[in-house]
Amino acid sequence: MEALKQKIREEGKVLSETVLKVDTFLNHQIDPKLMVEIGKEFARRFKDEGITKVVTIESSGIAPAVMTALKLEVPVVFARKHQSLTLTENLYRAEVYSFTKKVSNDIAISGDFVTAEDRVLVIDDFLANGQAALGLMEIVEQAGASLGGVGIVIEKGFQKGGDAIREQGVRLESLAIIDAMSPGQLTFRE
Ligand code: G4P
Repeated sequence: MEALKQKIREEGKVLSETVLKVDTFLNHQIDPKLMVEIGKEFARRFKDEGITKVVTIESSGIAPAVMTALKLEVPVVFARKHQSLTLTENLYRAEVYSFTKKVSNDIAISGDFVTAEDRVLVIDDFLANGQAALGLMEIVEQAGASLGGVGIVIEKGFQKGGDAIREQGVRLESLAIIDAMSPGQLTFRE
């Protein structure tokens, strides 16, 4: 997606060989117009998959997921990383370890909102080692729902998440794939 790559080139800051800062438009301040375009693009790519629900994880997955769900005209459900006062029973859970942040989160979604009748599109902002997406896929499986695909805004193609998901035969669509980066330099996959 050219507009996204352009935005990353203009505003992204490569902090190290593995961390890209995009908090001017994606995961702190949010550019709503760009999110609308991102939602349209995911909806276009997955329009024939019969998606009934978009599933994401808090917090930065929510904006692109909502815009996608709006366009597909289906609800969006986000997995919680922290215990909720009201979300206490009928839960599907998965453990998600972040190699980037070196923390483990127990993520949860209510069985009221993802069921065996659903065909799910998983959306997230970043794909690095794939733990978050794989955790969401595990929850979809626990619910007995079918997986229509995974949509990622920025995939770091040099980390192993993309391969881990594609190897499972899952349709993975990433709007920008970065093959290499170092301070001052970014290489996108064509
Ligand atoms: P993984 O799920 O693919 O294994 O990713 P990883 O554990 O490495 O990433 C965990 C968190 O770090 C995620 O946010 C993810 O969005 C973020 N992250 C990973 N790589 C980058 C990067 O290069 N730049 C930035 N800005 N973030 C990155 P999170 O903990 O779920 O936080 P949030 O969604 O509440 O923002």
